[in-house]
Amino acid sequence: MDRKIKLFSSKQERLVEYTVPIEHGMVVLDAVIYVLEHFDSSISVRWNCKAGRCGSCGAEINGVPSLMCKTRLDSINGDIEVLPMKVFPNVKDLVIDPTDTWHIKKSIPNFKINEQIISKSNDITATKNITLYEYDVTRAQEFKRCIECFLCLDSCHAVRVHKSAYIGPMHVVKTASLDMNPLDSIDRREFLDKKGIRFCNVTKCCTEVCPAKIKITDNAIIPEKERINDKKVI
Ligand code: FES
Repeated sequence: MDRKIKLFSSKQERLVEYTVPIEHGMVVLDAVIYVLEHFDSSISVRWNCKAGRCGSCGAEINGVPSLMCKTRLDSINGDIEVLPMKVFPNVKDLVIDPTDTWHIKKSIPNFKINEQIISKSNDITATKNITLYEYDVTRAQEFKRCIECFLCLDSCHAVRVHKSAYIGPMHVVKTASLDMNPLDSIDRREFLDKKGIRFCNVTKCCTEVCPAKIKITDNAIIPEKERINDKKVI
């Protein structure tokens, strides 16, 4: 069976249609690679693992931010349209430029161990005995599943509207992973407040597209908003 797939061409500034023979189990990335190998080897597209692990093959598939390597063709009815993620500058075809995203990530105040649990010798390996609860550990583990694919940023209407005034869901997840580390000592509430977390109105678009199934809104954004409000009340 053949399927039609349309890929964005930055040179032609439009979608270009190709017909691809389909086999059972193919994903969108397989079809894109078929186009590269049989029709146009100049198309620019990023991928590495083909297993939903590296986060490099994000795109908008029929308008939905998705990983090309995890989206099966038989899950899509009709023609398939693949465009680059819109919230990022386009480099070429399906390739985006995430440079600003890496700068924002660098601006997040880093982990700093709570000095009260370090021994007087300042030897980090000689920390005093502290109790770590299973809940605290599993809570942080969830955020470590993030593969930095940027789909949550692309799905976020607050990012689309307010642009750099809102740090975006991926970075709130990173910040929450540090804030919820029981060994950490930094207060990042003012940072998140200044970075526009208030613009998020918890519609859960980011959670819906996350391939790592992180409950971004419920477990990262809402708790962080509550911590900021607590500070203001105090
Ligand atoms: S190619 Fe690595 S996530 Fe798709």
